[in-house]
Amino acid sequence: MRAAVTTGTGGPEVLSVGDVADPRPGAGEVLVDVVAAAVNRADTLQRQGFYPPPPGASEVIGLECSGRIAELGEGVEGWSVGDEVCALLAGGGYAARVAVPVGQVMPVPGGVSLVEAAALPEVAATVWSNVFMTAHLAKGERFLVHGGAGGIGTMAIQLAVARGAEVFTTAGSAEKLELCRSLGATAISYRDEDFVEVLTEVGGADVVLDNMGAKYLGRNVAALATGGRLVVIGFQGGTKGELDIQALLRKRASVTATSLRARPLEEKAAICCGVVENVWPHVAAGRIRPVVETTMPLEDVARAHQLMEDGAHAGKILLTL
Ligand SMILES: NC(=O)c1ccc[n+]([C@@H]2O[C@H](COP(=O)([O-])OP(=O)(O)OC[C@H]3O[C@@H](n4cnc5c(N)ncnc54)[C@H](OP(=O)(O)O)[C@@H]3O)[C@@H](O)[C@H]2O)c1
Repeated sequence: MRAAVTTGTGGPEVLSVGDVADPRPGAGEVLVDVVAAAVNRADTLQRQGFYPPPPGASEVIGLECSGRIAELGEGVEGWSVGDEVCALLAGGGYAARVAVPVGQVMPVPGGVSLVEAAALPEVAATVWSNVFMTAHLAKGERFLVHGGAGGIGTMAIQLAVARGAEVFTTAGSAEKLELCRSLGATAISYRDEDFVEVLTEVGGADVVLDNMGAKYLGRNVAALATGGRLVVIGFQGGTKGELDIQALLRKRASVTATSLRARPLEEKAAICCGVVENVWPHVAAGRIRPVVETTMPLEDVARAHQLMEDGAHAGKILLTL
């Protein structure tokens, strides 16, 4: 089958399209004919050799896709060949076909095209699991998400607003700040403003979702309210920071860090169930829309990675098969 292949590790130029062996659906898996896949920041790390696939996962890059079910593995019930779906993957998305554990297969939510649906699984699962299952963001609480104009950020703002939180976010350019405002957030320029000051003035953030890691660790703790929960999901600003235990203790606050990809199948299935139950109704009602920067054919995979690394995009970058 057609798939993205790499000639070693390195920059986007190591990516091209070639032929690889077709996957077969194992017991409890379905085979999906991929219509679209989305690019994630983690994919760029995998391409550089810093984020290898977990044991047993496809070597082909790609953490989410949409498409049609082509075949059911042994013991799969509740789905039929031809069903339109989107899926959370441990790998293998940048390909014509992918085998997916059935617990990670989700229906396409109402109001969204099959191509657009590829933009949703990874961000919806990451935001639902971290902000709501782990940090328990509640109605009326203050929520700060960094990088509000990115894939994760655009989903986090919309879902938190839809569930009645007061949302603050950071972004880098006037255009991206405006996008964040249009989604319902108070937008703070990370170039010209201090998010700690803005949050402190209103009483602190009950939950912070962070993509920056080390660079923002101290300031994130400073921006927390009493009882606040900081969840770190990325390390765009480095991996080793200094934590002021006294500040954390005084606020009775917590710091958690999680990764979705390596979680056991049962946990991913529970997260996907939570997404279908709690996120998809907001999508179907038009309160959450997939924010897509651009859609390009799989053949342009190197350009898609370059675009993500340049950082000028807003929302998701999609590849069509
Ligand atoms: N742990 C997990 O399970 C998990 C799952 C999914 C994603 N992630 C991580 O979550 C992060 C976001 O992913 P994504 O798919 O949304 O990537 P993305 O679309 O490329 O977004 C990256 C974001 O980082 C923002 N940013 C850059 N410098 C910043 C700064 N100094 N302060 C605040 N924000 C800054 C960018 O803002 P501007 O565009 O405004 O500059 C952009 O919104 C990545 O680090 C990714 O690895 C983790």
